[in-house]
Amino acid sequence: MSKLRIAVIGAGSISDVHFNSYVNNEEVELVAVCDLIEERARAKADKYGARKVFTNYNDLLADPEIDAVSICTWNNTHVEISIAALEAGKHVLVEKPMSTDINKALELQEAVKRSGKKLQVGFVRRYSGSAKVLKQFIDAGELGDIYYAKASILRRLGNPGGWFSDKERSGGGPLMDIGVHIIDLCWYLMGRPKVVSVTGNTYKKLGNRSNINNLNFYKAADFDASKNTVEDLANALIRFENGASLYVDVSFALHAKASCSQVEIFGDKGGAEIEPSFVIVSEKHDTILNMHPQVDHPGFNFEEAFQNEINHFVNSVLGRTDLISPVEDGVEITKILCGIYESSLKGHEIRF
Ligand SMILES: NC(=O)c1ccc[n+]([C@@H]2O[C@H](COP(=O)([O-])OP(=O)(O)OC[C@H]3O[C@@H](n4cnc5c(N)ncnc54)[C@H](O)[C@@H]3O)[C@@H](O)[C@H]2O)c1
Repeated sequence: MSKLRIAVIGAGSISDVHFNSYVNNEEVELVAVCDLIEERARAKADKYGARKVFTNYNDLLADPEIDAVSICTWNNTHVEISIAALEAGKHVLVEKPMSTDINKALELQEAVKRSGKKLQVGFVRRYSGSAKVLKQFIDAGELGDIYYAKASILRRLGNPGGWFSDKERSGGGPLMDIGVHIIDLCWYLMGRPKVVSVTGNTYKKLGNRSNINNLNFYKAADFDASKNTVEDLANALIRFENGASLYVDVSFALHAKASCSQVEIFGDKGGAEIEPSFVIVSEKHDTILNMHPQVDHPGFNFEEAFQNEINHFVNSVLGRTDLISPVEDGVEITKILCGIYESSLKGHEIRF
């Protein structure tokens, strides 16, 4: 059987996990790499064995030797490149956030329908081994009706700078970068209930804390301490049609004792923590049980989840399975993210 011919657009940090996962998949041939910076694209092409290098994604998309693309560019380019790829007849795996604008997200949804091609959104946390196991428990009714979820990723020091802290290119700070992951994971595990309202707050109080000595933190390649137009902290309460609610807070900078991440969901028969560890909570014979499912990677393992995500994309494109994270879900999450920023700006709840 002939292999699925893949190209990666955007050859920065996250592209390495896409490349590695494609290389590990025997049904894939890695054909091309594109980046605005030619040396960056060439270096990745050499490292991972791709034959072709481009600096303009339209040239790459015109190549008939490519069946599908991963889009790993700045957030503000995701929709435009995805639509161009679909119109060129390619299947698309687009990194999160799918869009930073609700109207553009809807345009992309239309483009997917028109094209008949597959578009998978890179909601990678859905693909972790623990999320898969927990979803099985939830689908079997073990947690009952899920009515509350609570998710935090609080970095005391962790604004990556570069395009991440440039609102024009990122669409926002920690909410767009990490909030998107945990809002999506909770919403997915809650059974994708229809969102009816959001109340959000964003704060820009501490800047990027580039003054801090003695602690290292991840910095983007084009880190520039003077450029920071995104929030430090965002929080939100999201309400759903079925009465369930989700509370989220995320930060790039905060006077917290330590950075932490915690994702929990609660139903009327049981609950679960899925980050930082994996515990399912239940009650039997008047006794509370904390159960620890035995999986290779309790909590979130980056490499495992990406490999599962890429394998799922390949299997979907080859027609063997349905998408787990389709464009419609990208639209709903964009609606929530944009609603949180709008609520913060206007100082009141946004109803949909
Ligand atoms: N799923 C995850 O866990 C995860 C983790 C990190 C980043 N991401 C997402 O991946 C994307 C890339 O993030 P990153 O950390 O790799 O950033 P990065 O800055 O390291 O890399 C982005 C690359 O895209 C290139 N680029 C930008 N616009 C382009 C265009 N029009 N054509 C070709 N190349 C272009 C840049 O030159 C750069 O090399 C972002 O959307 C980010 O949100 C996802």
